[in-house]
Amino acid sequence: MTAATAPTFEHAIYRSLAGKRVVITGGGSGIGAALVEAFAAQGAQVFFLDIATEPSEALVASLQQAPVAPRFFRCNLMDLDALRATFAEIIAAAGTVDILINNAANDDRHKTEDVSPAYWDERIAVNLRHQFFCAQAVLPGMRAQQAGVVLNFGSISWHLGLPDLTLYMTAKAGIEGMTHGMARDFGREGVRVNAIIPGAIRTPRQTLLWHTPEEEAKILAAQCLPTRVDPHDVAALALFLSSDSAAKCTGREYYVDAGWLGA
Ligand SMILES: NC(=O)c1ccc[n+]([C@@H]2O[C@H](COP(=O)([O-])OP(=O)(O)OC[C@H]3O[C@@H](n4cnc5c(N)ncnc54)[C@H](O)[C@@H]3O)[C@@H](O)[C@H]2O)c1
Repeated sequence: MTAATAPTFEHAIYRSLAGKRVVITGGGSGIGAALVEAFAAQGAQVFFLDIATEPSEALVASLQQAPVAPRFFRCNLMDLDALRATFAEIIAAAGTVDILINNAANDDRHKTEDVSPAYWDERIAVNLRHQFFCAQAVLPGMRAQQAGVVLNFGSISWHLGLPDLTLYMTAKAGIEGMTHGMARDFGREGVRVNAIIPGAIRTPRQTLLWHTPEEEAKILAAQCLPTRVDPHDVAALALFLSSDSAAKCTGREYYVDAGWLGA
């Protein structure tokens, strides 16, 4: 068990997830690592993509006792050739992907006046573009088997209008539109597509970079529930939405944010 999962937390078991082939992007740390752990514990066959080799390999090592040990693929999702090659390798090894979780992102801050066209492209590539192309890689297989789940990670940030995050928020707003479009286009073929909207989640990166004690106090004061949201809380929602228990849930956004309704 890694730091991503609190020792006291226990996920529900969804029998419909056992044996499912699950691809998780950005699974090496933060929320992604909690997703890898949670799906592996369900007996799913997990493949995760990340650029961070060290934490990803450590995560794989910590989960060797899982019913099916997860597999790590080093892949920079901004490189579409590498992305396509990685999905081709996974599909060749495992067959159709049953569940895709588009989780990877990067929330670096910036000032509008400093944004160049190249930086614009890079921010959209790291936060939005790969979600579309990962889905494109798995949707034909899902269509053929008349079943599949795609979960796209959005963010509460643009709903609140947070400072110095315009490009990230632009990408995250686009993800909700993309989710609606894919849910419509693939719903008749049994594929469900939803977006998860995390609030302020206590991940190592957030704790290191942005969550000062003052910021923490502000967030807690703005939430209906004055308690921090952890990666395993997000994983709990992802498990439900991926399972057959959510058979009638598609084309929507689901928040996990302790009710962060604003200041
Ligand atoms: N943590 C929060 O408070 C929060 C809030 C709102 C939304 N979200 C969303 O939840 C998701 C997970 O967030 P997190 O906080 O765990 O992020 P994180 O930064 O802690 O982890 C992201 C993972 O993605 C990987 N990654 C980044 N760029 C990549 C690339 N080009 N190719 C491959 N892998 C790459 C990183 O190495 C890392 O392991 C993201 O979509 C994020 O936007 C998080």
